[in-house]
Amino acid sequence: MAEIGVIGGSGFYSFLDGARTVPVETPFGPPSEPPVVGQVNGREVAFIPRHGADHRLPPHRVNYRANLWALHSLGVRQVLGPCAVGSLRPELGPGTIVVPDQYVDRTWGREHTLYDGPPRPVAHTSPADPYCATGRAAVIAAGNGSLASSGTMVVINGPRFSTRAESQWHAAQGWSVVGMTGAPEASIARELALCYTSIAVVTDHDAGVVAGEGVTQAEVFEVFARSIDKLKALLTDVIGQLPKPDTDCACRHSLDGTAAENLW
Ligand code: ADE
Repeated sequence: MAEIGVIGGSGFYSFLDGARTVPVETPFGPPSEPPVVGQVNGREVAFIPRHGADHRLPPHRVNYRANLWALHSLGVRQVLGPCAVGSLRPELGPGTIVVPDQYVDRTWGREHTLYDGPPRPVAHTSPADPYCATGRAAVIAAGNGSLASSGTMVVINGPRFSTRAESQWHAAQGWSVVGMTGAPEASIARELALCYTSIAVVTDHDAGVVAGEGVTQAEVFEVFARSIDKLKALLTDVIGQLPKPDTDCACRHSLDGTAAENLW
């Protein structure tokens, strides 16, 4: 019913043509909202607003398992995950789009795996290269030189931002950006053998990078809203370029040899 999934801000509803809501029940409870399916650039796309249509869900309460399972159940095999991030580097200013190639998971207390015991089997998947190489290449190509084509995203639990010391520590590790939703979204996608590509929009310089008051929620929301048209144009291009759903990809083999190989 859909081949490509987008998990992003509620601003993306308007980007689907012929949109219809498709309620899905999942073994993990309800997704953030029932998926909306429509066309973008000639492809069938399912969209879920990560924080709910009314932004009621903080990052640590998002049902990442249900969101990804719902998309998978609709036939989605490629997922694009736009998200807002703070920058840990002076040269990555607000409005910059980063295509991360790694993440560091500093979240805790979230339902972070589909394989947490009976009735489901034990399955170990590898996030060594956590993002889809094909999806990343499509985003980088569509960006036409305007994007930061790599970077490590550290994912904090939130909903608070970092202290200056935490932020300076993150920057000192060589990490590029900091967000709150990139994990466990990416690793759960891998647990479903989905292709997943993160698209990180810088909304602010994090507290350790600038002197001053630190980050505010208003700043993050305002800069993200200002970037939404650029992001929609990018996603439209990328969606047109993604391979057809029957194209093989290493991501599709993440469950090979595990007890969950033929589960879904
Ligand atoms: N999302 C947007 N800006 C952020 C920041 N500075 N820290 C964590 N998550 C963010």
